[in-house]
Amino acid sequence: MTQPFPDHFHLRGFYRPFGAEMDAPDLVIEGRLPEGLEGTFYRNGPDPLHPPREGDRYHVFDGDGMIYAIRLAGGRASLRNRWVRTRKYELERAAGRRLFGVLGNPRFNDPSVSPADYNTANTHVWPHAGRLFALMEGCPPVAIDPETLATLGSETFEGRVTGPFTAHPKTDPADGAMHAFGYSAKGPGSTAVRYDVIDAAGRHRHQAWLDQPYASMMHDFALTERRVVFPCLPVVLSLERAMAGKPMAAWESDRPAAFGVMDKEGAGGTEVRWFETEPVFTFHVANSFDDGPDVVIDVAGSRRAPLMPSADGQPADPQATRFFLRRWRIGGNGHFREETIDDLEVQFPRIDDRVQGRRYRKAFVNGTARPTAGRVDGFDTVAAVDVETGVRDAFSFGDGAYCGEPMFVPRGPEEGDGWLLTLVWDSERNESFLAILNARHVAAGPVARVLMPARVPAGFHCHWRPAA
Ligand SMILES: [Fe+2]
Repeated sequence: MTQPFPDHFHLRGFYRPFGAEMDAPDLVIEGRLPEGLEGTFYRNGPDPLHPPREGDRYHVFDGDGMIYAIRLAGGRASLRNRWVRTRKYELERAAGRRLFGVLGNPRFNDPSVSPADYNTANTHVWPHAGRLFALMEGCPPVAIDPETLATLGSETFEGRVTGPFTAHPKTDPADGAMHAFGYSAKGPGSTAVRYDVIDAAGRHRHQAWLDQPYASMMHDFALTERRVVFPCLPVVLSLERAMAGKPMAAWESDRPAAFGVMDKEGAGGTEVRWFETEPVFTFHVANSFDDGPDVVIDVAGSRRAPLMPSADGQPADPQATRFFLRRWRIGGNGHFREETIDDLEVQFPRIDDRVQGRRYRKAFVNGTARPTAGRVDGFDTVAAVDVETGVRDAFSFGDGAYCGEPMFVPRGPEEGDGWLLTLVWDSERNESFLAILNARHVAAGPVARVLMPARVPAGFHCHWRPAA
């Protein structure tokens, strides 16, 4: 690194880039690892190698993807972390400086680079067909060796996926197929959405194209047993705005929210039915299922997107950007109904993946009872919430603790019988650890803590891959 990083909220404290790769063969464990919990916990997140080109302008979604792999085997734990070797990373590492604008804003790119190579691969990590995919919604998946974390390269699935690919695919428990989509699929700011199904063996099986009503930043979607739902919510992308020096993505409050419902692996975009309602927002869908003609989608939902200005440049009202576990019902009659399941402020909901797309009971979240002022961090609490009764089983790691997305790992055959794994940073002790909790007795606190050799910075999403 040739220059210091600027003084920016998302580059300080919990967010400060770590900037190094480690191999820690035998980590300290407090408590005992549960019998049978054998496999690897992966977590992806941004760790920018270089400071931005635009002075103190930065965005938390922008850093280079770094994957942490915590392996649990035979009562012992080890850690490996590696940057994802995207073309962006390799070009910038060779140059010794940033070559791409923040969030790939082409106005600030070095003339030597192609905007299409802006891939941070920093958002999610998804195991499929023996490989691991590092995902960032603007680009095709980047395949990773699950053992070594070596980057294997971009995956286009027989040339069918050459553009954006969501960071939130869904694996259908019926047949192990991975369902995914890409927005801005015909260029940044285009309304085109591509829907893909990759079978359990990793072969491309189905593709459909549709257009959303306007070019929204579609972070996640919903998959039920019969249908897929594409949420077009008013974070609107505009290349024109970006080239005028303004944000590429902005909240446009005069837009409706629209939900595109189509049959799973349906024949094409013409079969999408769009339902409109007042503006609502979600980054993350917990689960969704068919209820007769209705589709029920449980989300971490808010009134407005955080981290994005309005089209006129105004920052978001912090009250409107608080996320709660909410149930959205898209009626077969075209009506939209919303109810709040729980009043804990949350962000990263997960489920027992065996009930993906099915009627279910448990959402696992990180959250906080303290106001976060519209930030998407500061979550000290992990919880299992019964989505039918609203009963919450929660544990707080205390003031100054930040816990990440909880990953559910099954133990017995029933939904919710298993473990919750979450990476925690205790800011007062400057200590990071992987907490392991019984998903049916969350309030009892961790049964084991795997101590990290160094602070693990804030990140986004995680996954689990059982030992072979
Ligand atoms: Fe996400």
